[in-house]
Amino acid sequence: MLVWTDRALLSMLTLIVSVAAIVDAGRYGLGTPATSEQIAGWDIDVRADGQGLPPGQGTAEEGEAIYAEQCASCHGVFGEGHGRHPVLIGGQGTLTSDGPMKTIGSYWPYASTVFDYVRRTMPFGHAQSLSDDQSYALTAFMLHINEILEYDQVLDAKALAAIQMPNRNGFVKDERPDVPAGEPCMSNCRSGVSVIGTARAVDVTPENEAKTAGAPMSDSADGAGDAARSK
Ligand code: HEC
Repeated sequence: MLVWTDRALLSMLTLIVSVAAIVDAGRYGLGTPATSEQIAGWDIDVRADGQGLPPGQGTAEEGEAIYAEQCASCHGVFGEGHGRHPVLIGGQGTLTSDGPMKTIGSYWPYASTVFDYVRRTMPFGHAQSLSDDQSYALTAFMLHINEILEYDQVLDAKALAAIQMPNRNGFVKDERPDVPAGEPCMSNCRSGVSVIGTARAVDVTPENEAKTAGAPMSDSADGAGDAARSK
């Protein structure tokens, strides 16, 4: 969620892939260069700042009906989640507790990426079957049940990019204090490797349980356990 594809990098990669395709097509007589239309079909990412959001719009009111039909069977009528399917509401104030509940309302830092995720992946099993208007309406509905957007407020690219999510400033840069600073060592870094502990010594293997479950442990010197298992 925290790393976004840079559009410039994506275009560059697309160019490299296209050039490589032309070269390969010539060399092996296989494939054809991707057309700009084909590339556009894959290039649907929406950035955190809203760049890439398509034209279109929707309200929570419109989204509610689509949600009931296409989403509620898994996520629950109110976003409460059926079975072990993800919960889409609540959880505010739980992130620093022992039982953090990560939802759109409590965790997601950007609304634009909720749109991106839903349009790209949902409904589960029928990815990319939603129109852009439906994706706006569903995003509006999910923001509404999280008390971030009014029921009749129109959500479009501009309005979506302007939304400040509750957990917008809850993310911190991971400074990796355990990683040494400076250039990473690439050669002659360590003279040797020594084993400083084993799973058995730190007691993470529940031996008694394994024995009662009838799985012979094969640490005997003559390898009898292995032989028995092979049979
Ligand atoms: C068949 C069950 C199913 C249906 C129907 C479904 N989803 Fe999902 N949804 C899932 C599953 C499973 C995940 C988790 C996927 C993962 O983590 O890889 C998920 C994840 C999500 C998430 C991300 C939740 C989070 O905070 O990480 C959102 C948002 C979402 N779905 C919205 C929708 C919307 C909107 C619809 C209707 C268009 C929908 N889903 C329909 C099963 C479903």
